[in-house]
Amino acid sequence: MSFRASVITLFPDLFPGPLGASVIGRGMEKGAWSLEAHFLRDYASDKHRTVDDTPSGGGAGMVLRPDILAAALDDVAPADDRRPKILMSPRGKPLTQARVRALAEGPGAVIVCGRFEGIDQRVIEARNLEEVSIGDYVLAGGEVAAMVLLEAVVRLLPGVLGAAESHADESFENGLLEYPQYTRPQIFEGREIPEILTSGDHGRIERWRREQSEALTRQTRPDLWARYTQKP
Ligand code: ADE
Repeated sequence: MSFRASVITLFPDLFPGPLGASVIGRGMEKGAWSLEAHFLRDYASDKHRTVDDTPSGGGAGMVLRPDILAAALDDVAPADDRRPKILMSPRGKPLTQARVRALAEGPGAVIVCGRFEGIDQRVIEARNLEEVSIGDYVLAGGEVAAMVLLEAVVRLLPGVLGAAESHADESFENGLLEYPQYTRPQIFEGREIPEILTSGDHGRIERWRREQSEALTRQTRPDLWARYTQKP
């Protein structure tokens, strides 16, 4: 069974968007994963297909009604559906490569995209939604965040990236940022490729790359560096 993604959104036309292109789109054509976008408004019950209402206690903006989202979730993911239910939200736990890897090993994901001041807390609790953030900034809605999560997951699925694009050396896979890469021409605007990379000495090249990764991580991501140096 391949990875199955179901998205609940007020903008189903945004999908697949970039997920239909390049290796991710080809992965879908090859059957490595599938994507359904469900229109939240289809689960509204009044003739205006209202999905939100004013916040209890007052304040700006609108809040997504719990009954409508619950109806959508129960239709898209019945009780025996084993996929995690994820709510894209700036309040969520930051997305990490470790969480991405775990999702890629599972059956898929049901992803709710918000577009409001918020979502009624009771449906988050009643349907056990896992809140996930893609970073400490606020988007206008969860759709782009859902695409970010899915792109990160799908590229790890078997058969999506070829051997030529393997994962072993890339940033985060070993807790460090990736070392700098070079290719022809030998001299670009007066800058030469580091001599060591053309030496043919694979042991020295590997050590140099590791040093570069460590220096880069120490300088630009002290948070990652601290975790890396604390590792047992
Ligand atoms: N929706 C709005 N901002 C978001 C963020 N930073 N991460 C995930 N979903 C969001």
